[in-house]
Amino acid sequence: MKRCHSQAPWPRPFRASLQIVTLALATTLIACRGKTPVEDPASQARKQLEQELSSAYSMNAPSASAVRSFELTAAPTSVQQFDGRLLDVWAYNDRVPGPILRVRLGESIEVKLHNRLPQPTTIHWHGVRVPNAMDGVPGVTQDRIAPGSTFTYRFTPKDAGTFWFHPHVRSSEQIERGLYGVLIVDDAAPLPYNRDEVWVLDDWRLGPDGQIDPRFVTRHDLAHDGRWGQLVTVNGDANQELVVRPGERIRLRLANTSNGRVYRPDFSELDPRVIAVDGMYARQPLRADGFELAPGNRLDLDVTIPLNAAGRSFPIIDRFTRRPFLLATLRVEGAAVQTPTFAPPSNPRVPIWSRAADLATDVTYVLDARRAGEHGIQWTINGVPWGEHTVTELPHAKWTRVRFQNDSARLHPMHIHGQFFKVIAKNGQPVDEPFFRDTVLLHRRETIDVGMVPLDWGRWMMHCHILEHADSGMMTEIDVREPEQRSPGDQ
Ligand code: C2O
Ligand code: CU
Repeated sequence: MKRCHSQAPWPRPFRASLQIVTLALATTLIACRGKTPVEDPASQARKQLEQELSSAYSMNAPSASAVRSFELTAAPTSVQQFDGRLLDVWAYNDRVPGPILRVRLGESIEVKLHNRLPQPTTIHWHGVRVPNAMDGVPGVTQDRIAPGSTFTYRFTPKDAGTFWFHPHVRSSEQIERGLYGVLIVDDAAPLPYNRDEVWVLDDWRLGPDGQIDPRFVTRHDLAHDGRWGQLVTVNGDANQELVVRPGERIRLRLANTSNGRVYRPDFSELDPRVIAVDGMYARQPLRADGFELAPGNRLDLDVTIPLNAAGRSFPIIDRFTRRPFLLATLRVEGAAVQTPTFAPPSNPRVPIWSRAADLATDVTYVLDARRAGEHGIQWTINGVPWGEHTVTELPHAKWTRVRFQNDSARLHPMHIHGQFFKVIAKNGQPVDEPFFRDTVLLHRRETIDVGMVPLDWGRWMMHCHILEHADSGMMTEIDVREPEQRSPGDQ
């Protein structure tokens, strides 16, 4: 049975189907002339999902009370890394990880980047809902910043949380060489944790000389899950040990800046709560075990050190691979402090979107590889690599169901710039992840459906965050724009 629409129907992302929609619209308009429009149940359901989201996070940035200015210089340098050895890297302000940039929600940020690298570069603010022109994607939102020149990024964060920044030019080389840092946006009124710690997780593939292996994007990396190094570091240290006091309550922010490696940290008896994923607070605090931290992901933990733990050490073990290893240690020393009591931060308005499961998929991205390109393997989205892609048009402020279908046997952490989304189904089974993400890991041959309401205008990248996969093609673009109002006969 045909129903009348009060508005143009959902614009499909692909040009081919637009024609069909236009045809259908023409028919509908003719059939409905003179009658009162009735909304079909699916568009009613979509409207409800949009409403459920509207209170969960803000459309606009708060008006800025102050500007925090930072200067970053990207340049080759040597740093004492791992066990004190000198390592040749590319770094922001001569350190790996780069400096932690910290602002408070309600402040603007201004970052002047000087490029002293032998290559052009940019900075992308991963997970931050910036104005499109500040997103750092060459050829899409800005020009490459040439060696010797400077570019100033300016924006006001809309969300408090843990974010990170990195180049978006030859990322597989530039990030691997050490160009990354964390951006923390503090809540307007931060909670009284005893400590706020950042752990940046990275791995390094070193050559026989102990230096970064300069063979980037190898055929082996492409045929597997990107570049996995033999040495894993936390904040650049292979034996990270955080000394804490009994009773302390710690906000521990983990960020995975590795090219390809996924982590599954096991905190065993410390039993922390996950309070935020990819920067954004979860609906309620969650158990941490089993959480997978794919490249790009962040996880904020609320950890309380037991009062009777003086003299003890708590190993944190990575269990993503079949060979578990020690990631870091929390060593407890000194006199006990009184544990501050407050409810862990949360965002109870993260939508459940229970009605989402029945709604049709609007966009499908099939992830796979083909034999082509300089390394013999190209990673593709819907059969084509970056450069041959079609821009997906997504209507602003409309609920959209996006399907990622992994037809390959490799991992793909899929990242969308400038937007958050929520996982609503895995392999066709409805799930309610009680948090937003900007990056979701697909395991081999897995299909994951996400719901999103794009609120931030412009052209944004959508890509695999295994940097070798991305640099060999696994990238595309979305364009968040005014829903198209097409009249019959329009093309
Ligand atoms: Cu951290 Cu385009 O990504
Ligand atoms: Cu991938």
